[in-house]
Order: sequence, then structure tokens, then C-alpha cells
Amino acid sequence: MLIAGNWKMNGGQQALGEVRQLTGLITSKGAEILICPPATLVTQMAQAVAGTGISVGGQDCHPEASGAHTGDIAPELLKDAGAQSVILGHSERRADHGESDSLVQAKTRAAWRAGLRAIVCVGETAQQRSAGLTIAVVTGQLSGSLPGWSGQAALDQVLVIAYEPVWAIGTGLVPSNEDIIAVHAAIRTHLLQAFGPAGKTVKILYGGSVKPDNAQTILHLPEVNGALVGGASLKAADFARIINSV
Ligand code: 13P
Repeated sequence: MLIAGNWKMNGGQQALGEVRQLTGLITSKGAEILICPPATLVTQMAQAVAGTGISVGGQDCHPEASGAHTGDIAPELLKDAGAQSVILGHSERRADHGESDSLVQAKTRAAWRAGLRAIVCVGETAQQRSAGLTIAVVTGQLSGSLPGWSGQAALDQVLVIAYEPVWAIGTGLVPSNEDIIAVHAAIRTHLLQAFGPAGKTVKILYGGSVKPDNAQTILHLPEVNGALVGGASLKAADFARIINSV
């Protein structure tokens, strides 16, 4: 199980204090914990969690290793700052910055070049869901966003998928258990087709309004291998309760 916190454009010194509290609140040993703060906090966060087993990730990266790209961050720079993972293709980036599947694919390759684990996000909008397109949208995003893997490391060390229905993010709405099960099963089938047996090892996270009260149920559904948590990852007490649901 992987429980990942996506702080989005939130957090500061006070939030770093929450992370220091977090370790004291964790009772479950079953979860790998990852925190993805804003890029400005990656170094301090990496220092704050050193020796705790918690790892740190970025929220996006540029496909290039360096160059004239004002405001962007190369995966190599994230790695230097202490990140081990990077979230890619989050729906907020797909929507706010028009990120296409092919750009997400290039970023995934770049993350791998830098030695980062890519957490590739997919998910349908409310409109797509009501049009019955959920599985087609999600598998289409996977086809377009995932490069082939021929590296030395085991696939599960370099790739995680996060299923985040756009309409469930920050809304308090969550798909039914049956809907989560159906989409995760379709993602697993896609991973097996794309990567062969190694596709079985890749963790599939659910994200979208995961809270202390629903985490236990969601995390025990078939093919749910963890959660990508937004708002509830900012408060140590809430994030710990989610982690302790594992
Ligand atoms: P919330 O948990 O705040 O709904 O956010 C989910 C998310 O977008 C994580 O990447």
C-alpha cells in the first residue's frame, strides 16, 4: 500500500510542522508514505522526514533536463532536492495547463531518465462519466501517457498509476465502490496488456475526496493499492488516520 499526500499549492513552514507530528501518530506499519509538497519545500521536507521512512515527491516536472524554461523544474532538479517520485498528468495540470497525454508521456520518460518514480494520474470528468465514457477515457489516457519500459529497475519501482475522477477531487463526492472496482480492474487489464506480467506489480492508487472516514472502505477494495490524498494530507491528524486505515 502506498499512501501519497499531494499538497498542491498549499503548505508552508506550519505545514512542515504537521509532518514532524505525523510520524508520532502513525500506528500502521503496512503503508509506504509519500508526501508531495510544493517544489519550494522539497528540500526542507526531505530533511524533515530523513530517517522516518517517509519519502518526498514533486508535483510535476519538465521533460527536458535543463534549458531556457522559466518557471519549470527538471526532474533532475527535483531529484537533487531530495525527491524520489513525481506526480505527472494530474487533472489540475491537464485542465489548467492543457497538458496532453503525449506531454505526460514525455514527462514520464524524463522522470525515469532522472531516476524518479512516476505517479501518472488519469480520470474522467463528470460529463464523460454521464456519457458512459469512463473506461474509454481512462484507458485512452493510459495508452497515450505511458511509455514502454525497458530499464533495469522493476516496473513497480518506477511507475504508479493514480485513478482520480476529476469530479471527485476536492468535492467530497466519491464514486460507488462498484465504480472504483470497475475502473481499477480496467486499469489493471491495461497494465497487463501494456507491460505483460510486470503490469501486475504496479500500484494503482485511488484519489478524490479520500478522508479519514472513507479511507478504510476504499483501501480494501480489489486492485486498490493505496490512495493519493489532497486536502486531508495537509493535517497530520487526518493524514495519519488515513495511513492507519491500511
Ligand atoms: P482531494 O483529496 O482534496 O479531493 O484531492 C485529490 C487529489 O487531487 C490528489 O491528487
